[in-house]
Amino acid sequence: MTTRQILALLNSHIEGDDEQFLSVALQIAAQQARSGQTDDADKLKRLVQKARDQKRMDHPAGGQTPIPMARPRSELQGLVESTFPKITLNNMVLGDDVRSRLDRIVRQQEERAMLRQYGQKPTTHMLLVGPPGTGKTMTASALAGELRLPLFTVRLESLFSRFFGETAGKLRVLFDQVAQMWGVYLLDVFDAIGARRGDPNDIGEIRRVLNSVLAFMEEPNSTDSIVLAATNHVEILDEALARRFDEVVEYQLPSQDAARAIVKKRLGKFKLRSRSWSSLDPAMADLSPGELVRATDSLVKDAIIDGVTKVSTDALHAALQDR
Ligand SMILES: Nc1ncnc2c1ncn2[C@@H]1O[C@H](COP(=O)(O)OP(=O)(O)OP(=O)(O)O)[C@@H](O)[C@H]1O
Ligand SMILES: [Mg+2]
Repeated sequence: MTTRQILALLNSHIEGDDEQFLSVALQIAAQQARSGQTDDADKLKRLVQKARDQKRMDHPAGGQTPIPMARPRSELQGLVESTFPKITLNNMVLGDDVRSRLDRIVRQQEERAMLRQYGQKPTTHMLLVGPPGTGKTMTASALAGELRLPLFTVRLESLFSRFFGETAGKLRVLFDQVAQMWGVYLLDVFDAIGARRGDPNDIGEIRRVLNSVLAFMEEPNSTDSIVLAATNHVEILDEALARRFDEVVEYQLPSQDAARAIVKKRLGKFKLRSRSWSSLDPAMADLSPGELVRATDSLVKDAIIDGVTKVSTDALHAALQDR
């Protein structure tokens, strides 16, 4: 158990926030399960379940206390991908503005008990906007990794195609989970809502989904979960929807220095044979971090297979131009 978890337990105890106390306990259980201590994890989960059952019996009138484990797992399966990312914000190369916004989100999560004491809440709902490959999806992982929270990802586009006619209902299942489990929730490819608005076949479905998301955005976020929505096309997003986010974070193609930093980070212990970055700059211009990473990775793989530790600048140049 980390100090952060002990602090979270103590804070929720002091505040009398049972639900929060139990969700921290569940996180600890999940962590134990991951590290192979499944018996202890099961014991913890059973205790949490017992505590919740007890609470329900004590408060039959307010009996709607959500019980995540009572929900069959299958209901969320195939709908949401849940992971425990290991990366942190330091794995990313970000502009100062984006980085400081994300750092602030992390601090507010860490100090949320203190914020609550002053009647404040952490900023939780953020719209991530920017071109492909600039790190929107990665940010969700990095925030989850940084805070050691689970990441729940739903790709709206695939929801539409798999559950047409029931998309809004499926989203509701996810939204209910937000109220039960502290985590990072990512609505990826969020523009699917906007992009389909013009299609006459989709109008009813889109309206239901939109209303469902709008309602969700107004609901109290009792777990202080981070809710992220990522889109390439902010211009086609419903305005009422865009307005409901606490913050909009804009991602851009990297500057020259940032592009170099991304390639360097990705080269890791492999080094460029000659350090003539300036000859690479033109080939890196206008490439997204995703493209830079892919080009670098292909060379790193070559180097591993060839058993060398140095990468030729010409080969990197060629790989970058290939993108
Ligand atoms: N800012 C960044 N710093 C370091 N690596 C990055 C960054 N952004 C992206 N990458 C790399 O590019 C890959 C793709 O990025 P990611 O999937 O986060 O892009 P995205 O913005 O979600 O794109 P899309 O709009 O296509 O979904 C990441 O897995 C990572 O390897
Ligand atoms: Mg993405």
